[in-house]
Amino acid sequence: MIGVSIGYYMSTSHQYNLTGVHVHINLLGWTALTLIGLIYVLFPELEKKALAKIHFWLHNIGLPLMMISLFVMLQTGNMTSTPLVIGTAVGGTLVLIGVFVFAFNVLVNLKKSEA
Ligand code: HEM
Repeated sequence: MIGVSIGYYMSTSHQYNLTGVHVHINLLGWTALTLIGLIYVLFPELEKKALAKIHFWLHNIGLPLMMISLFVMLQTGNMTSTPLVIGTAVGGTLVLIGVFVFAFNVLVNLKKSEA
């Protein structure tokens, strides 16, 4: 809802500076998490692993932190503020590690016979 609302705001106001926030909320927050959820429905043994919970929390803490920081950066034009740089860097790192944890879960725990 937030991702499409930002897209709608950009369309109607003709201000495209928030494109980076719009695309990441929609793709990492909606599309990727939807696919991951469907993978867990197809292969429920993956969802039972601790790796799935670790990924969930890394993704759901990291993405809002990265997006809020990036939103403020792009809206204010202040690309060098230390708290905002730390927010995007830490948030982005958490999401990156989370996606690797998810991929590791799939690669290690999805048996060939089930795929
Ligand atoms: C109400 C729904 C949406 C509206 C009004 C909307 C609006 C926009 C606007 C105005 C742009 C900027 C276009 C430009 O820079 O020329 C954009 C870019 C983009 N949107 Fe959306 N969007 C919507 C939903 C979505 C969804 C659901 C996704 C993905 C799941 C998405 C992914 C993207 C991507 C990847 C771009 C970047 C395209 C590029 O720069 O080449 N959008 N959107």
